[in-house]
Amino acid sequence: MFNSELIEQIRAAFPRAVTDFNGRKRAFFDNGTATLVVDKAARAEAEARINWSANVGGIFDESIRASDTILSGRQAVADFLNASDPTTIVSGESATSLLFNLSYTLGKELTGSENVVTTDYEHYTNVDPWVELCNRGKIQQVRFAKLNMEEGTLDMNHLQELIDAKTKIVTITAASNMLGTKSPLEEIGKLAREVDAYFVVDAVHHIPHGPTDVQALDCDFLVFSGYKIFTSHGSFLYGKKKHLEALQPYKVRTAPTTPPGKFECGTRNQATFAAISGVVDHFLSLSNEVQSNYKGKFSNYHGNKRALKIAMDAIEQYETGFSKAILSGFDDTPGLLDMPKVTVYGLTDLNRLDERDPTFSFEVANVPEEKVVSRLWKEGGIAARSGHYYSYAQDVYNKQKIIRISLVHYNTLEEIRIFLTTLNEICKLN
Ligand SMILES: Cc1ncc(COP(=O)(O)O)c(C=O)c1O
Repeated sequence: MFNSELIEQIRAAFPRAVTDFNGRKRAFFDNGTATLVVDKAARAEAEARINWSANVGGIFDESIRASDTILSGRQAVADFLNASDPTTIVSGESATSLLFNLSYTLGKELTGSENVVTTDYEHYTNVDPWVELCNRGKIQQVRFAKLNMEEGTLDMNHLQELIDAKTKIVTITAASNMLGTKSPLEEIGKLAREVDAYFVVDAVHHIPHGPTDVQALDCDFLVFSGYKIFTSHGSFLYGKKKHLEALQPYKVRTAPTTPPGKFECGTRNQATFAAISGVVDHFLSLSNEVQSNYKGKFSNYHGNKRALKIAMDAIEQYETGFSKAILSGFDDTPGLLDMPKVTVYGLTDLNRLDERDPTFSFEVANVPEEKVVSRLWKEGGIAARSGHYYSYAQDVYNKQKIIRISLVHYNTLEEIRIFLTTLNEICKLN
């Protein structure tokens, strides 16, 4: 589906996909930390900043245009998530601030005897807002579902055991930002609903890698951040309409009393909404290119929602090929699985690649992480990283530092080949 012409077209849409600002050719594999920006988003953001920087609510054109931009940005996010309507989309500074706001708000409903269930592979952003509820006496316990450590997946039996009649919130990452493993969200959602708990999804890591459908997940809340999906900072929270209407967030008394405004702290930045619309436009253009492969598919989705589902499905399939290549290499190039000195944390079963995103954490025996990352950069032009990614899983695996690469749809198999060749040379050290 992704032929060389389309790959070139995608890369051309990202001003920094091929070279950095110094003109250095490099492969950008640090996408799990922050992605590169798509030109449509950057241009839309600049246009909104320059041409309609006025605040909303005025009668002059700049103000009207700012309001329209915010509304169409919410609509674009709603289409992208298959949400019912734009009023279900709340914006905020970051996923961290949105989840803290959500935990405070849900905390008002709790009595101190309840529990929250989460997992051992969350980002700390989806841990500490709930631990905070515990510290404030709003819940009794935060419970952590264990991992199948060998394969880097969630232990679903343990998760199921943890959920009981006192569970009021089940909050899970869509994919681990250390291991790349995707959570079986639909299954987890059912478990949450059986005990009438809120089902919260942290989609920050998974968001650029495949379709996200809040109706199919039947989740109560879902959060993601713009800088992980080809635009700037600023994050979005989907909430079921009935919850956004009923819940009482902390708010300034003169702020709107209806959603989404009642959940938003302070004046909105219209440029953030223009930018996220630019991202969605990018996916719509991509969808046009691949839609002939989807005749008769996804017929229960309509208009932009179907187009976006197609784009994200195509991206997911393309990226599964990345995972395969990274692990098993090419005819003339060994993959991570062929390098005895490399240990990969996360799913490596080639028959289960649909259960992971192309995010890989690994180490090389006897070569310090910094040295691997520095040689990858100097010799291969591979932008990778070693460190702590605020992942609870790193504490569970006792890896305070780990090398991570994370690929998205503007990366290429050729870049993977260079990465593997360089890493193979690094393995020859010592
Ligand atoms: C899975 C996950 N959740 C949450 C976050 C935090 O997002 P933000 O920086 O928008 O608060 C990250 C950031 O890396 C992440 O990977």
